[in-house]
Amino acid sequence: MTAVVRAIRGRLFSFTAEPAGAGDAASYTLIPDGMLRVEDGRIAAVGPAAVLEPHLPPGTPVEDHGERLVMPGFIDLHIHFPQTQVIASYGAQLLDWLTTYTFAEEQKYGDPAFAARQARFFLDELLRNGTTTAVVYGSVHPESVEAFFAESERRGTAMIAGKVMMDRHAPAPLCDTAQRGYDDSKALIGRWHGRGRQRYAVTPRFAITSTPEQLDAAGALLSEHPDCYLQTHLSENHEEIRQVARLFPAARDYTDVYGRFGLLGPRSLLGHCLHLSDGELARLAASGAVAVACPTSNLFIGSGLFDAARVRGAGVRTGLATDVGGGTSYSMLRTAAELYKVLQLQGQNLPALAAFYTMTRGNALALGMGDAIGTFVPGAWADAVVLDPSAIPALAHRMKTARGLEDELFALMTLGDERVVTATYVQGCRDIATTTA
Ligand code: GUN
Ligand code: ZN
Repeated sequence: MTAVVRAIRGRLFSFTAEPAGAGDAASYTLIPDGMLRVEDGRIAAVGPAAVLEPHLPPGTPVEDHGERLVMPGFIDLHIHFPQTQVIASYGAQLLDWLTTYTFAEEQKYGDPAFAARQARFFLDELLRNGTTTAVVYGSVHPESVEAFFAESERRGTAMIAGKVMMDRHAPAPLCDTAQRGYDDSKALIGRWHGRGRQRYAVTPRFAITSTPEQLDAAGALLSEHPDCYLQTHLSENHEEIRQVARLFPAARDYTDVYGRFGLLGPRSLLGHCLHLSDGELARLAASGAVAVACPTSNLFIGSGLFDAARVRGAGVRTGLATDVGGGTSYSMLRTAAELYKVLQLQGQNLPALAAFYTMTRGNALALGMGDAIGTFVPGAWADAVVLDPSAIPALAHRMKTARGLEDELFALMTLGDERVVTATYVQGCRDIATTTA
């Protein structure tokens, strides 16, 4: 069968290496009038349009974005699918926020029809923001993850998700048991892990809501399915840390709770990581686990400031995420802008190149998917976002004074949001929104 060929033309911008700092022009490729040749959803060739266009088969559809930046689609390493109507809930810190707002809302997700409607909204919103891959928490109900994966598969997006495992310290309708959490997760892994572009993350919510038996079951799932991911929360809030110490008196510290159940490794994605000791950081570094910064959430819930210099200095891999609905925006641009401010408060900085690297190639490498997403190399999926600064008057006005690419990128992340996303491509095709509100 002959391949379906299409082409995307514009100002192509992608990273080939981690920027060593501001001004590191060797870390990226910028092709001012570039073209991606897409065959069956993957990039078949990338280069100047003048070189590639003459070789396109007659009649090939070409979408030309002119001067607009075309980048690999954004990747969000931590977001909660059942919290689209929890986002922007007033006035509580983590543990009260969970019981007052989150646990009330998540009870609705046992209804497959409701979960399917919410999945359509959630994926529309991700794509509207240029996010083409996300690592997603479902609710405790397997139905929520079933609905999410079914909708993701329909759209052809690459998503990683898991049903939350939670067998204590939550309302009864939201609790499974160690055995049930294991069985339901195992069944979802069997149905969805590696089916097309869907992947599974074993998802014990956090140490407070899982018994030792359940964390043991999560460890068993991981050893039985070593190519699944593990996602959980770690060291977000001081009261949370005190409760974990009370619940696991034999553990040296919070990180040790996860370590002793076999939950730390290079496919482990640990949200927050705000208040870790040096010993915990060393343990994370040795395990290869990823500390996922969630700046809008940490500011909104009042949890603390992610100390990137300290975490990275200890040799821990890092990534970036929205953490909606503790987080306040689906936009990875807004998320990077808030990380910049969080780092400024600590005398650190975040060059624009580092921010855009993290949103794309950095987060892809954190997932071990550096060849498949977050990059414009032949063989990778043609997932892309098109950014147009003129969509926001204040940004367009500021751009007139831009002093080169990095200044342009910095203004784009500081002032931009989903309004600058003029197209999102999944496997070379523009997504089709299915909901309006
Ligand atoms: N810790 C445990 N569950 C959650 C959650 O849903 N959001 C955040 N921000 N932290 C958590
Ligand atoms: Zn979270």
